[in-house]
Amino acid sequence: MTAYQGVARGSCWLSDEAATVAAGGGLAAALASRALLIFLRGDLGAGKTTLVRGLLRALGHSGAVKSPTYTLVEPYDLSTGPVYHFDLYRLGDPGELEFMGIRDYLDGHALCLVEWPERGEGVLPRPDLVITLRLDGVGRRLETVAISPEGAEVLDGWLGQEESPDDAQDRR
Ligand SMILES: Nc1ncnc2c1ncn2[C@@H]1O[C@H](COP(=O)(O)OP(=O)(O)OP(=O)(O)O)[C@@H](O)[C@H]1O
Ligand SMILES: [Mg+2]
Repeated sequence: MTAYQGVARGSCWLSDEAATVAAGGGLAAALASRALLIFLRGDLGAGKTTLVRGLLRALGHSGAVKSPTYTLVEPYDLSTGPVYHFDLYRLGDPGELEFMGIRDYLDGHALCLVEWPERGEGVLPRPDLVITLRLDGVGRRLETVAISPEGAEVLDGWLGQEESPDDAQDRR
């Protein structure tokens, strides 16, 4: 699995589903309409779609949030701009992303949230932010790495930043 080295890191513990929804809302606020590419990593049932649901609700989406497991992508046309929610779990081959015209989604006009980005490795570009969710006690641990300066800005407004150990090492 790719180990992401970024410019900043953050983490928090989410005690229950409501906390994951709230974290998604906080991310929406920190994004402030930036059209970033965000990877959501974590096992089946880790809470990726729950986080997206909280984000979409906070951006004003009132309907259901379907997991796009079979359609691969679900579009949302929101007042803050377009959002595409991808779930690549059932992607057979990263090359299929070219067929679905992935570049048109990722041309910078829309916020793109990608569950199971590992499945698109080699075709998907570098994200701005990588969020990883994992089971931790009765809740979930959320860890995030900002890859781009814009991602770091969002992370700062969302969870606050911890200095990346790699950056600290660079200065020694
Ligand atoms: N912080 C939390 N603590 C406990 N349960 C949680 C938490 N956040 C989400 N859940 C629960 O985890 C379950 C799975 O969530 P979700 O569907 O969002 O996972 P997912 O990562 O999108 O899975 P998949 O890879 O299958 O798409 C849901 O039942 C949800 O209520
Ligand atoms: Mg999901």
